[in-house]
Amino acid sequence: MNDRNLVDEIRRKIDIVDIVSSYIPLTQKGKNFFGVCPFHDDTNPSMSVSREKQIYRCFSCGASGNVFNFVMDYEHLGFRETLKFLGEKANINVDELHISTKPNKNQKFYDAYDFGLKFYQNNLNTIDGKQAKDYLKKRQINDELIKEFGIGLSLKRPDDLTKILLGKGYNLNLLNLIGLSSQDRDTYIDRIIFPLTDTSGKVVGFSGRIYKDQNINKYLNTKETPIFKKGELIYHYAESKDSVRQKKEVIVMEGFMDVIRASSIGYRNTVALMGTAMTKEQANLIKRLSNNIIICFDGDEPGQHANLVNGEQFASMGIDVKVIELHDGLDPDTYILQYGQEKFKALVENAINFQDYKISSLKNNYNLTSDEEKVAYINSVLETTSKINDEIHREIILKKLAIEVNIGYNTLEKRLQAFLEKNKNEEKKHVLSVQIEPKKTKKRNKYITSSLAVLYYMLIKNWVIVKYDREGIYFPEENMRFLASEISYYYHKYGTITIADFYTYLNEKENLLPIYNEVISSNFDDNPKDEAILDYIKVVREGVLKSEIKRLEGLIRNTVDPLEKARIAEKIRCLKIGS
Ligand code: UTP
Ligand code: MN
Repeated sequence: MNDRNLVDEIRRKIDIVDIVSSYIPLTQKGKNFFGVCPFHDDTNPSMSVSREKQIYRCFSCGASGNVFNFVMDYEHLGFRETLKFLGEKANINVDELHISTKPNKNQKFYDAYDFGLKFYQNNLNTIDGKQAKDYLKKRQINDELIKEFGIGLSLKRPDDLTKILLGKGYNLNLLNLIGLSSQDRDTYIDRIIFPLTDTSGKVVGFSGRIYKDQNINKYLNTKETPIFKKGELIYHYAESKDSVRQKKEVIVMEGFMDVIRASSIGYRNTVALMGTAMTKEQANLIKRLSNNIIICFDGDEPGQHANLVNGEQFASMGIDVKVIELHDGLDPDTYILQYGQEKFKALVENAINFQDYKISSLKNNYNLTSDEEKVAYINSVLETTSKINDEIHREIILKKLAIEVNIGYNTLEKRLQAFLEKNKNEEKKHVLSVQIEPKKTKKRNKYITSSLAVLYYMLIKNWVIVKYDREGIYFPEENMRFLASEISYYYHKYGTITIADFYTYLNEKENLLPIYNEVISSNFDDNPKDEAILDYIKVVREGVLKSEIKRLEGLIRNTVDPLEKARIAEKIRCLKIGS
């Protein structure tokens, strides 16, 4: 069996509806299944999944593909990893597969980082690395953790790595561009190195920590580069995936050391923002990991602030957020070292619902001896309570509040209802505003529509490909012509073609995806009469003829030589007779 057959075999053994519905809830309507698209901000079921065609597509953002595309995009996996992932589900061993992975235009950058990582890791085990090793030991980072987190060391000599990479054929401009060098020297000098990986696990940057008594920045991070997008980077993201899937929740922390420590006691489902600030992109990425998020920031003032701000951000995205509050300004790393695994486990298990956390922190903001502030306090507690979905939970809070502020339960309940009503209206408004109409396709004349139709039927009726090969069909747009020739090529190479399998092939020909999607999403009849298809072909040919005649007529107008004019006129006459 060749690789392509094996790939298609995996795809056929798996039902896209099963896979997609393991990520998002789907409801069947007619032949298709519908769900909320996970690839853009949405609350409407804009994504349709076809069991028959084994493809999905979103009417709103245009995402589309077969089961491989879905898993690649959802899990942030490469093609090879996706095959492995789905191969396991299909009980097909993919170890011997030799799929050509598409060369990445940034491969050189990744290679440089991979090399840098190995170089730094090696330094830690040399004599020069003794002090750093002692430092790590003192912080209870053992060899196992050093290995798991790829920790390394940059040495004192200021151009160690730069020199080696120059020797390997890299030029200085590139090394500066990707942040490994700055001004002819190494960027990282005499620091403990933590590799930073992107969402698929490739090393794209470093963070270097001082380890001696030095009065300089504690951490030095890679600057923004073509492969290092600061606002999208989350420490330990790719590495946490398996554990998150298993534990069905993800814990979000501030720093590397926190994540490393938590992992050392079995919490590998942790990630770090590398500080307390969180971008919208980071929030979206974390949401992709799990809909159950526990935030566990440092127990200091900025950490508490981050609990409220980031918790609110997650909650507004429809996520079930919980908070672990650490006391005495401790960070998770120190907490675990001081109190041990069991105590931390208890914290995780008893993490408090974000709305409860918010309510209990509200008290600190108001002076309850002033009537005015008391009213404001009650209002904000009620508003927060109105965001809780569980009715019983709301009632518990209300009862407590009634006693606490000495106001009648019914009065509070009435006000709560008003907030609930307000939320409902806002949600309605939001739904309306995101309810984008299906993407407007460019205005199509009958020639374009017919061309799309012919391309569609090439995919589902083999005889159309045969006709295309024999007689030639000239499509009005270049991307259509490329697509047609790829379809024909694929069919002859593999002896068969399906809409879903061709998506796999297009992984390596991304520029054809937009036109392919347009073809697939035009809703042409799946069971037409042959005559209908022949009619489409006729229209395509007419269109080409017409535009050729138009071109020649323009040419005549701009031609002076009467002989040449006559020659073109004759050509036009022939074309017209032919049609
Ligand atoms: P912390 O100061 O809490 O660091 O900053 P930490 O994780 O506890 O590290 P140790 O225990 O002092 O070694 C939290 C995170 O903020 C980022 C880092 O990602 C750090 O892990 N940070 C902090 C920087 O990027 N630069 C800095 O100078 C400081
Ligand atoms: Mn910290």
